[in-house]
Amino acid sequence: MGVIIRTARLADREQILAISSRIWEGDDFVPRVIDEWLLMRDSEVAVADLNGSVIAFARTHTLTPGYVWLEGIRTDPAEQGHGAGKALTAYFIEKAGREGAQRIGLSTYIDNYASIHIVEHHGFQRQASFILAEAGRDSPARAAAEPSPLVSPVSFDEARAWILRSPFIARSRGFLSQGWKFWPVSRPGVVAWPPFDRAIGLRTDNGSLRSLLVVCRPDHGPHEITIDFADGPAEDLDVLVRHALALYPGIKTIQAMIPAGDEGSTALLQTVTGLEFNVWRHGEPDVFVYEREVEQH
Ligand SMILES: CC(C)(COP(=O)(O)OP(=O)(O)OC[C@H]1O[C@@H](n2cnc3c(N)ncnc32)[C@H](O)[C@@H]1OP(=O)(O)O)[C@@H](O)C(=O)NCCC(=O)NCCS
Repeated sequence: MGVIIRTARLADREQILAISSRIWEGDDFVPRVIDEWLLMRDSEVAVADLNGSVIAFARTHTLTPGYVWLEGIRTDPAEQGHGAGKALTAYFIEKAGREGAQRIGLSTYIDNYASIHIVEHHGFQRQASFILAEAGRDSPARAAAEPSPLVSPVSFDEARAWILRSPFIARSRGFLSQGWKFWPVSRPGVVAWPPFDRAIGLRTDNGSLRSLLVVCRPDHGPHEITIDFADGPAEDLDVLVRHALALYPGIKTIQAMIPAGDEGSTALLQTVTGLEFNVWRHGEPDVFVYEREVEQH
């Protein structure tokens, strides 16, 4: 018998954790979030069952009615290639259509060939590319933390309006990241915003906002923050990123997703490179956002 896809039950938790422990040498965020995923509204964890054993799982999160995010797809390394990844992807596309979603999105990494193969096979199209940069606790970037008296908080309403007019959001094709989850903040039809943790900025003498940086907390771990937006003159970005580093001294990892459109990347790439963040693959665009429309049933 082939793979059967069904909604996960609490009883599947141990097998989900066992699969996760065998992937990326156990360095997977799923154990930190699985309990929340299994209980959360607007979310479904599904498993692939082969001959009575759970061999794979994945999860969707409805960011807003009309937009579904697919993430956390994992197949037991001993069982890969049996079609579980494809079947889970097909299940969630079909379900999104049944529930009236217009689009479904996901992100993946440049060297994740199996994942890219599966999503392109299922009609997802690459919409945007980003450059991943990180500063862990032992990164030299953390020593650049420096609060500035010139930086002030920005209300989330003002921040959202400014983001929509920025070159950054044009380069990111209307997506705003929250770690590896990309929200459609300025996409056709459906709009959804990630929850911000902080927005900070620098102003001109007449009080108008000259530069802005937004920090979110990814939902896969309380010990991480992500710089999901930073735009403005390069000298301002240096001040804002240093200030942001100073606001989160104890955090394990600070990550930035830097949009890389056809026109190149934003000034944020120069800033984080100068501050010695670990820029993966030497600044090559390496994180891809895929999306596809969903046929309504
Ligand atoms: C990605 C993953 C979920 C795929 O699971 P799976 O159950 O093996 O997937 P399937 O068997 O349905 O399909 C795999 C497809 O990828 C193809 N594939 C596998 N390795 C490949 C490679 N290196 N290059 C291109 N295609 C590849 C297979 O040929 C197959 O396609 P086909 O059926 O058209 O021949 C699994 O590899 C995994 O758990 N990886 C680690 C976690 C991960 O990276 N998750 C995605 C995060 S974005």
